[in-house]
Amino acid sequence: MEEEKIMEKIRIYHIDQNEDALKLIKQFSQRAPRLHIISSSTSLEEGFEEIQRIFPDIVLIDENVAGGNLAPIIQKIILHSPYLGVIVTCTEYSKGKIRQYMNAGARDCLVKPFTATDLAQSVMKVNKYNQELKNHIVRSTTRILTRAPKMISIFSTKGGVGKSTVSTLLAAGLASLYKEDTAIIDLDLQFGDVSLLLDLKPQKTITNAIESIGQLSSSDLRSIMTRHHIGLHVLPSPLNPEEEDFITEEATLKMFKLAKEEFDYVIIDGPPGFNTQNIIALEQSDLVLLITSPELMALKNTKNGLRTLTELGIDQDQIKVVVNRYSKKSNISISLIEDVLGLEVFATISNDYPSVIKFLNQGEPQLIYDGNGKISKDLRAIIEGLRTYHTVPAQKGKANLFQWLMQKVQK
Ligand SMILES: Nc1ncnc2c1ncn2[C@@H]1O[C@H](COP(=O)(O)OP(=O)(O)O)[C@@H](O)[C@H]1O
Ligand SMILES: [Mg+2]
Repeated sequence: MEEEKIMEKIRIYHIDQNEDALKLIKQFSQRAPRLHIISSSTSLEEGFEEIQRIFPDIVLIDENVAGGNLAPIIQKIILHSPYLGVIVTCTEYSKGKIRQYMNAGARDCLVKPFTATDLAQSVMKVNKYNQELKNHIVRSTTRILTRAPKMISIFSTKGGVGKSTVSTLLAAGLASLYKEDTAIIDLDLQFGDVSLLLDLKPQKTITNAIESIGQLSSSDLRSIMTRHHIGLHVLPSPLNPEEEDFITEEATLKMFKLAKEEFDYVIIDGPPGFNTQNIIALEQSDLVLLITSPELMALKNTKNGLRTLTELGIDQDQIKVVVNRYSKKSNISISLIEDVLGLEVFATISNDYPSVIKFLNQGEPQLIYDGNGKISKDLRAIIEGLRTYHTVPAQKGKANLFQWLMQKVQK
């Protein structure tokens, strides 16, 4: 039962031509603690477009929205996101039609009129099936978190590998695509550029949070942050680099604790390498995305960084290698990177200058996600990976032959 309490909400998108039906389902969902209607529409076109943007867990769709030809629509929705569960609401019971919908990929059909309990049972069943499917497909890892990682540090030992770009875009994606309550903290106290990347003119910075940290509640911390219009909360680095001297260890730790209390996700963009504040951030993080690029020097630095992270007591399972600016033409392959680092590559992000420059020129992360540049798909995949990370089953003892050999050789 304890576990039920911390289970996440199941995000449902509802499409029905009938406004009253939308209202009724909304009321039904309010009676079931895990059901959450994130949005709805009376129009199939609008709904389809929105589904692609916000990735619900469940799409509840009425058979009448497609003028009697729902099967191809279901197929189209599933094609876009295989983990999404489609539930069809039908006006009357017809075995033939239900079979047609199920064959197209629907996971359940509810015949009207149905009760709030019927809806909740159907949603729970479909969601359970989807979770199992995901567990099956997502690549193995040895760690199980009981919940999605909350605080994520984006880290690299070397500057210029794309830490700020990646952290800003990931945070923006979590906030805008998934409507997650997300904050980004710019911990690059000397050369922070997150607010610049997002074209924000912040009134307050980390310095303001730190100087009053003793009296702050977690919601006070939220109100110090600058809100980007997509819904992302930004705590920028100090305007004046000398302010770094006032940012004590104790205050930094308290700031992270408040942020974790207040937000669903806290993304940390740090300086290259290690400093006091950054080490505290790394220790407080559930996951560290170790950013590298497919170049020899970057790789050498990353290898050193990895050693230091281990010395700091960061668990190897908490470190996820992300290769940024990756291109298939690059002469350093993923398997070589994995061999050198002794860790599996978690994800790659394409070298996609045209998309990045569009984003930079306008400070608008939505341009990346609305566009169809390669980088958009890569970032979405990472976000999906982060959000579903806690559901990944443990596969202890997955042999990493190279690591094993290295240990033997070094003995
Ligand atoms: N995937 C990418 N494709 C193309 N350019 C990128 C990509 N990631 C980062 N860049 C560019 O690389 C440069 C360094 O990125 P930045 O995020 O400032 O790195 P860091 O924060 O690690 O110093 C910037 O000019 C940025 O626009
Ligand atoms: Mg940076």
